[in-house]
Amino acid sequence: MDRRLVVLYGSQTGTAKDVAERVARDARRRRFRVLVSAMDDYDRTRLIDEAPVIFVCATMGDGEEPDNMKGFWKFLLRKSWPRDILSNLEYTVFALGDSSYDKFNYPGKKLHKRLQQLGARPFYPKGEGDDQHYLGIDGTLDPWLDGLWQVLLQRFPLPPDQEIISDQELLPPKYRLVPYQGKSIAPPTRSAAPGTIVARVECNTRMTTANHFQDVRHVVFSIDEGVWHRPGDIVRLMPSNNAENVDALLSLMGWMAQADDLVLVENTDPDSPVPADIPQPTTLRALLTRHLSPWSRPRRYLFELLSHFATDDQQREKLVEFCTAAGQDELYSYCHRPKRHCVEVIQDFFAVRNVPATYCFDLFPEMVARDYSLASFAEGKVELCVALVEYKTKLAAPRRGIASEWIRTLKKRDEVPLRIVPGTMTLPDDANTPIICVGPGTGVAPMKSLIEARIQQGATANLLVFGCRSRTHDFLFEAEWQKHVDAGHLDLWTAFSRDQPAKVYVQHVLLQHGPQVFDWIQYRGAHVYVCGSSNQMPTDVCNALKLIVQNGAGLTHEQAVEYVAGMKKARRYQEETWS
Ligand code: 2AM
Repeated sequence: MDRRLVVLYGSQTGTAKDVAERVARDARRRRFRVLVSAMDDYDRTRLIDEAPVIFVCATMGDGEEPDNMKGFWKFLLRKSWPRDILSNLEYTVFALGDSSYDKFNYPGKKLHKRLQQLGARPFYPKGEGDDQHYLGIDGTLDPWLDGLWQVLLQRFPLPPDQEIISDQELLPPKYRLVPYQGKSIAPPTRSAAPGTIVARVECNTRMTTANHFQDVRHVVFSIDEGVWHRPGDIVRLMPSNNAENVDALLSLMGWMAQADDLVLVENTDPDSPVPADIPQPTTLRALLTRHLSPWSRPRRYLFELLSHFATDDQQREKLVEFCTAAGQDELYSYCHRPKRHCVEVIQDFFAVRNVPATYCFDLFPEMVARDYSLASFAEGKVELCVALVEYKTKLAAPRRGIASEWIRTLKKRDEVPLRIVPGTMTLPDDANTPIICVGPGTGVAPMKSLIEARIQQGATANLLVFGCRSRTHDFLFEAEWQKHVDAGHLDLWTAFSRDQPAKVYVQHVLLQHGPQVFDWIQYRGAHVYVCGSSNQMPTDVCNALKLIVQNGAGLTHEQAVEYVAGMKKARRYQEETWS
């Protein structure tokens, strides 16, 4: 009997990929041969006659498919497929998402439905992974996997002379680091996904006053003239880890002596190739600086791996316990609630010794690219407006986000690889159509690119509704807006929430000017853009708009709801929000 499985994932930030790799490890322990691949890297013509496939499918914020399954998904959607084209395929789906979002697990659900339409048969019910679970994704994944292995081992029993490889046995590393003995030794190159350009930092300044609670950065990069971008596009940046931290980690792990040796990263399993964005040759230091993310949340596999290298029984037992069902609550209190990162865990388990560096890809998650709204629309230049993240944990000092820490330290003339990818917001085709931009806080960033593009088009009906805490502390881009107002290119309405006893928000200002807003929307076909980081703000603004059209057109509440829904459908009401 061919005991072979295929695990195909669609992953944006790496969580779905981690899940896929966990499924594959579990499968290998059960003596299956496994192919693991991003959906878009898989030879999809094989799907017709494939072994059972386990799909692991993440959700983007707006319910869209992750980038590395878009091609595969489009392929499945082709209208020309006969109804039973996949009738030989057995599959199951584990969807990942966040149940606090409207479009919870949409891509996974749609994939499940489409596969069935094409004749494929689910051999095990779809799993619904939920970020809201207090144990993270493992909370929903564990019970789903228990059932999955029961079903699969019934269908494909272990060969008579073989047993499940127990957790006590160390699996080979995902990739192997082998000494590079090439003749011409080139310095390690930067990783480069297609479309990556090199940008140079021109300035990195704090936009808020020193006594304001939040450090918001204005970062300006110069890029080659002619690099094409549109207003509302997204800038995708790969942060690096701080050199001193990397040094400290190299010492902690006992890896310092080999940190700068040139190595090749080779796969240990022929079915799981090394990602193309890892430069070859490279060094351990480069991998820990740019490709791996040791200062982020550990995967549970970290604890399992460390247990194999613990030189103290008590610590080993604790690490093993964290990987059992009974140990999950304790793992939560120790690790997830206080937001411990991998390096802190390794520091705590000081009896862990001599972990081979070749396990670095198994120990640490991969570094994830961060997306920021393009805050400019000009040739040869990319501007960002970024609030640096600082958060408190139950542990000692306030903690900075990995990307925030990296942005904070960017200096003039630093070179940074970045990609410009399409955003979701689009301007009206006709420059005479008014735009209403509602962008409190750093939500104003993409509005700046939209407004700059409009001014270049000669459009004058541009309204910005901006909100912040105070006129003096965090009025982002005040001088720029004033310049456009003075030139007659922009109307600016402001809401300074804390400059008076009662809170004033952008939606209050919209309501104050209700009749004018209604006039622009109803009679001039205005497009409305809402962008920002507050969870509640987009809903509040939308409700204000419903009230404005309700009053303006004399509608019932239900009719007003329909009116605004119609605007959204016609893409005259576009939102870009983040949490
Ligand atoms: P606050 O911090 O004083 O509550 C940018 O973050 C601005 O958005 C701040 O002035 C903030 O006000 C405001 N804000 C907070 N919650 C909001 C909401 N639900 N709707 C609109 N603005 C909000």
